[in-house]
Parts: sequence; C-alpha cells; structure tokens
Amino acid sequence: MKRLTIFRGPLVITLACFTVLCMGQRRSRVTRGKIIQLTEPRLTGSVSFEEALARRRSVRQFVSQPLSSSQISQLAWAGQGITEPQRGLRTAPSAGALYPIELYFATPEGVSVYQPQGHNLRQISDQDVRGALAAASTQGSVAGCDIIVAGSVRKLTTRFRKDARKYMLLEAGHVAQNIQLQAVCLGLGSVTVGGFDISGVRKICRLPRELEPIYIICVGYPLAQATTEADQGQESTGAKRAVLIVASENFRDEELFETKRVLDVTAVQTTIASTRIGFIRGMLGNIAEARILVSQLRVDDYDAIIFIGGPGAVEYFNNPVALNIAREAVSKRKILAAICIAPTVLANAGVLTGVRATSFLSEREKLVQAGAVYTGVPVERDRFIITGYGPTASAQFGRAVADALAGR
Ligand SMILES: Cc1cc2nc3c(=O)[nH]c(=O)nc-3n(C[C@H](O)[C@H](O)[C@H](O)COP(=O)(O)O)c2cc1C
Repeated sequence: MKRLTIFRGPLVITLACFTVLCMGQRRSRVTRGKIIQLTEPRLTGSVSFEEALARRRSVRQFVSQPLSSSQISQLAWAGQGITEPQRGLRTAPSAGALYPIELYFATPEGVSVYQPQGHNLRQISDQDVRGALAAASTQGSVAGCDIIVAGSVRKLTTRFRKDARKYMLLEAGHVAQNIQLQAVCLGLGSVTVGGFDISGVRKICRLPRELEPIYIICVGYPLAQATTEADQGQESTGAKRAVLIVASENFRDEELFETKRVLDVTAVQTTIASTRIGFIRGMLGNIAEARILVSQLRVDDYDAIIFIGGPGAVEYFNNPVALNIAREAVSKRKILAAICIAPTVLANAGVLTGVRATSFLSEREKLVQAGAVYTGVPVERDRFIITGYGPTASAQFGRAVADALAGR
C-alpha cells in the first residue's frame, strides 16, 4: 500500500477501489506479456476413457499444493490444444471453427492466458488471485489452479446471429468436460463453478471487455475424504471394505490416493488408519484424514488390509500391532496387500515364506531373508497376498486389490 501514496487525487481513489476489488492483492509489477512455453502435451496415458468417466466427481476441497507445469500444459491442451495444425482445429469442437473460448490460468505465480497456436501461456499479471476468485464465487477451498473459461460472443455474432450466445456456452461445456476428464487422468480433482460474480471475476482476472467469464474450473490435489459410508454409520450396502494403513507422516502420496481412488471407483468402502487420528501429510505434501487408530483396528471389520509405503512406513516395520494385523489377516484369509517398502511389514510378520512377492528394490533382501520368492514385477499376487513395487504401480496395485475383492 505504501507505493500508492505517490499518486494523487482521483487516481488514488481509482487505485484504492481496484485494490479493494482485488481483495487486498498486492499491486502487480508485471511481467505483462511474458510468454511461458509449455511442455509438449502427452498423447498417451494409463487411465482409460471409461475409467476417467467413472472416476470423475466434483471435488471442492483441495490441498494447497500447486500443479506442475506439465500438468498445466496437459490441462490447457485438453481444453483448447491444437490437434490439427493445418487448419488449427482443436481438442474441443467449435461452431464454424471460430473458437470463441479463451482459457485463463490462475496459479500461485499469477494469471496467464493460454495461446493455442504456440501452446504457451501469456502472462497477464503476477498476482495470486485464487483467494479472490474463491471469495467471488461459490467454490470451496483454494485449488492449485483455477481455469477461467471465458467466451467472446462477438466472434460468433456475424455468422450465427441469434444462436451466437448459445453456441459460445455449448462450446464452454465441451472445453470444461475435456479439462475435467484430463484432470482425472492426471490424478487431480476438479469442480466446474458457474456461480460467481461475473464483473468481479472479470476485474480480478483483467479480462478484456469482449470476454465473458463462463466457468471457473478449480483443479488440484483433492483433500482425501477418509470417511466412507461405513465410517459415517450409514447402513452397509454389503460392499467390500478395505482399510489403508498409512504412516502418520511421510507416506507416499500416490500410493495412498491412487489406490484409494481405484477402490472407491469399484465401490469398495475405504478407511484410512494410522498411528494418530486426524490430518496426516504425505511426503509430497498432500493431506489425508485418518479415521481410526491402527491399535484399534479390528481385522474382522475388513475384507482387505492394505499397507501403504513411503519412508514413513518404517514405523510399522517392527510395530507389534501392525505385525499381528498382518498375521491375523492371513489366518482369516483376508486380502493382505502392501506396496513400496511396506511389504517389509509382511516379511517381518513372517507371512511371506514361500510367497511370490515384490517391493521397492531397497527391501528386496529383507523379503528374500524372510523366505519370499522375490519377483520384482510392478504388482505381484500370490493367492490372498498382493504386493506392489512403488508409486508408479499404485493404480495397478489398487486394481489387483479390487480384482481380488471381487473374487477375480
Ligand atoms: C453449469 C454448472 C454449474 C456448476 N456450478 C457450480 C458451482 O457454482 N459451485 C459448485 O460447487 N459446483 C458447481 N457445479 C458442479 C455441480 O454441483 C456438480 O457437477 C453436481 O453436483 C454433480 O456432481 P458431480 O460433478 O460429482 O457428478 C456446476 C456444474 C455445472 C454443470
């Protein structure tokens, strides 16, 4: 605010109003027009189209972790990327190929507009406006990135006359759907927000007069919902139940969130257990909520017991309660699973003797010493025991557990 004192008269008032409208953001030094080249979009992925459709759900609570530049690149491409350079045709259809939609990205680094021709972002400001956008809309917590889908009805009016506005809105829907499905494939959550103060958002993002903000798509890492129907005391639907045993800090984020997501999609009820109840943080900064204590976990309540890896999982290596849970699970023919370094818990519990198993390479000797047949494949299943190599195998690991629970 100190910098404003150098101005005089009406200018002071104008600037003060603008500052208020922008919810106290500091004034931008910008960097206007700075071009941020995006990485080449990936054209292959590990999540099928059907899985993406099945998994998409509106997410309204996010952890504060920003998105990576490759995630931003992929989201921008999914929304408006050029897929046929000769004619400039894009990922989303457009009436008359006139492309009235513009995508603005609000990240911790500022606001930028996507330029499909160069697959780059042109910086508009260096202010973090995500808090201001949340305040101007009905969105929940601040996400890693807000994508403002804005449209120019003027671009369509000459050709489509009275249909122009309808086409612009339809096109925004196509773009938003592409972005939401791409977010799922990136392991991110999103929500399309239509309820916001149009003029507030226009000012916050400094949209040109002819652009109308249509949607804010909040995209980020979901704050894990640890509660399930079972936790909430609702009537059980007869669905299978799995408990994910997670370190109280430094669990490996993808191993928890990907495994849980795959199980949730297949209607398995999941619960997170740890050595303390409440919010726990993964090694990449994502937050989950543990609802039960490992010391109070009853093996009989679950069909699958899953140990999640990450450096923090060492706390279970010689934890007598955890070792007994593994032994009891085997004796009761429950599905027993562990990923990354967590298979060592199973090894130390003495349940891997003669069992084909895999783990993070660092644990190989411990598994072999415990009598396991170490295979080193991404995911190994030997009857009721499923083991996974590490973060990259998380989805496959989750699917193996889901298959085993389904009796496949
Ligand atoms: C046009 C439109 C506007 C929406 N606006 C909001 C909104 O302002 N705030 C919000 O939290 N969700 C909003 N949503 C998300 C819907 O609430 C959500 O899609 C719906 O509850 C169905 O849940 P699902 O997306 O998980 O399938 C909007 C969705 C659409 C299609």
